[in-house]
Amino acid sequence: MNRRRKIYEGKAKVLYEGPEPGTLIQHFKDDATAGNGAKHEIIDGKGVLNNRISEFIFTKLNGLGIPTHFLRRVNMREQLIREVEIIPIEVVIRNVAAGSLCKRLGLEPGTQLPRSIIEFYYKDDALGDPMVSEEHITAFGWANPQELDDIMALAVRVNDFLTGLFMGVGIQLVDFKIECGRLYEGDLMRIVLADEISPDNCRLWDVKTRNKLDKDRFREDLGGLVDAYREVAQRLGILVEAENALTTGPRLVQ
Ligand code: TMP
Repeated sequence: MNRRRKIYEGKAKVLYEGPEPGTLIQHFKDDATAGNGAKHEIIDGKGVLNNRISEFIFTKLNGLGIPTHFLRRVNMREQLIREVEIIPIEVVIRNVAAGSLCKRLGLEPGTQLPRSIIEFYYKDDALGDPMVSEEHITAFGWANPQELDDIMALAVRVNDFLTGLFMGVGIQLVDFKIECGRLYEGDLMRIVLADEISPDNCRLWDVKTRNKLDKDRFREDLGGLVDAYREVAQRLGILVEAENALTTGPRLVQ
């Protein structure tokens, strides 16, 4: 029985009230959606893998002094996070042309971009998360200029770290999406990385085979999504062989 107070339910995660004020529990579901929810499937084991992969990345980022909402993983599907005020902007960082950028500009997928490009999308399902500029963000007050500078600096640092992390295990970081929040500590406020970083919100290509190891496997009906996510986790050293059973066999209830 689940008596916790649900704060918010998204497409892939649920947020519950945390054990202490200012904390939340972030629960990873097995739901996969694409096309703003038009396509929806339950993919057994996805939530467990994303929880582990995101824990691994956020722990490393915290260790580098890049501020995040992450405190610790509490079980197979859940992590303890700090409560932040989410900024309603999806920040996409691109290193290689793929996805909507190719459609918009007629680029060949896989084209190396002249430099990393940051894009912003306004988080609004009813509007289909439209792309917006810095002007829109500051004019409508979704974030002020200083906050936007902090968000972009954070995005660049995360990109530098992730590019190296994945390249070290034979994976090219094509692009990814992050979300940021305002963390209030007394009179102080700072911008921190929120949400998750997992193969659900990155494009990850195997350097040798060009195989897709991310959610495009679901978007493009390629199959093998959990195997691909498990491959990412194994290469990062998160999952050892014996632990595979945890994502495929009987569920461990915690
Ligand atoms: P896009 O090419 O579809 O614009 O996606 C760019 C990156 O952002 C890709 O890694 C997938 C990620 N993304 C999300 O995580 N959530 C979203 O709603 C969208 C549109 C993209």
